[in-house]
Amino acid sequence: MPQYQAVKGTRDIFPEEIAQWKYVEGVVHNLASLYGFSEIRLPMFEYTELFQRGIGSSTDIVGKEMFSFLPDPNGRSITLRPEMTAGVMRAALQKNILSSSPVHKLYYIGELFRKERPQAGRQRQFSQFGAELLGVSSPAAVAEVITLMMQVFHSLGLQGLKLRINSLGDLNDRNRYRDALKSYFFPFEEMLDEPSKERLEKNPLRILDSKNPALQEIIAGAPRLYDYLSVASVEDFEKVLFYLSERGIDYEIDHRLVRGLDYYGHTAFEVTSSELGAQDAIGGGGRYDALARELGSSTEVPASGFAVGMERLLIAMEKQALFAAINPHASLLYVIVQQQELADHALNIAWQLRKAGIKTEIDLAGRSMKAQMREANRMRAAYALFIGSTEYETGLYTLKNLLTSEQTTLSLDSVVEMLGQSDRKATV
Ligand code: HAM
Repeated sequence: MPQYQAVKGTRDIFPEEIAQWKYVEGVVHNLASLYGFSEIRLPMFEYTELFQRGIGSSTDIVGKEMFSFLPDPNGRSITLRPEMTAGVMRAALQKNILSSSPVHKLYYIGELFRKERPQAGRQRQFSQFGAELLGVSSPAAVAEVITLMMQVFHSLGLQGLKLRINSLGDLNDRNRYRDALKSYFFPFEEMLDEPSKERLEKNPLRILDSKNPALQEIIAGAPRLYDYLSVASVEDFEKVLFYLSERGIDYEIDHRLVRGLDYYGHTAFEVTSSELGAQDAIGGGGRYDALARELGSSTEVPASGFAVGMERLLIAMEKQALFAAINPHASLLYVIVQQQELADHALNIAWQLRKAGIKTEIDLAGRSMKAQMREANRMRAAYALFIGSTEYETGLYTLKNLLTSEQTTLSLDSVVEMLGQSDRKATV
């Protein structure tokens, strides 16, 4: 085994997989722009307080999963971003973008870092794509981010997804509910595990999120937040559900869904995939009107958004064979040289083809013609262009379509004309 291995919880992405990533990213870019979202790119690290305040100090992410460090002995602690939403809001407030236009729709694709125990679908460095709609959080806005997310899944052809949705109400609703939860859990205090005991005081809603099997029965008997919602909160939620139904988006109301981040209020949602094992959440999000104030903003910035885990999405797509049709070399031409004396001539031809915009590959290792053909097939090249002494003398080359095995003899200019055109057609 080589001396150096990738750090546990990280992985390398080789070219075959890059084709899958690019395909998914292409769909994300297209659909985000279709819905009027613009891309934002943010720093990989932020001051630690941003996440403590934004995500909440009683959450697992802040409590135990952040990669934090001091850049210098007297510096402020910084943290590798464990999620994007706090950073997007920080950037929007810092640049004051909402003063120029009250609504901003931003999306991102990028790497995140969480010190979780690595397992299938759970890494310490992973990627998300997501969207944040800042400045308005009407039911229409919340429905818009959910619709965008579901359209991405739909366009990729992903099946077997379940959208679970809940309303966490507003602050007053939650305060009433928090008191009710405390009263409910106190008699069980001795039976709770350590993290839940701690949460009982600080944030009893978090107990509902516990995966500890021993607590599930107690949790199942807890009061429902939904019963503590005001009439206005219920109406808000029902309007979101109305939009989803109208758009044919299936959902399941899950009154136990609280999500692992503290900034949510009103609608929260999560999508799970039947293709994933224990880590079955493929994406999630919700409305987070309180975040801007939490980060020190003097004005309200109502907002909602979602994020989808790229690795989990790719695992689910792979299981459903949704990448079978992707061929990164679909238009590739492989120049095959029949005699090594003609190698320099072949190199010159390859250069001319590339200059003319034709995707071209050529053997650089002086391998036999058979080996060159094998390589062309391995790369799933679309064409082979044969260079032999007759071709060299006449300037007419044999072009073989490797899919149909059809052969034509033509000049280099004609090759460029033909493939250049088919390339253009393919990209329209
Ligand atoms: P989240 O639920 O923490 O939400 O993460 C969203 C998705 O990221 C998860 O559903 C999962 O697919 C993926 N993910 C999370 N942790 C890991 C990991 N360790 N390894 C692999 N994939 C992972 C957020 O991050 C919120 N910022 C979403 C949001 C946006 N809410 C409002 N706007």
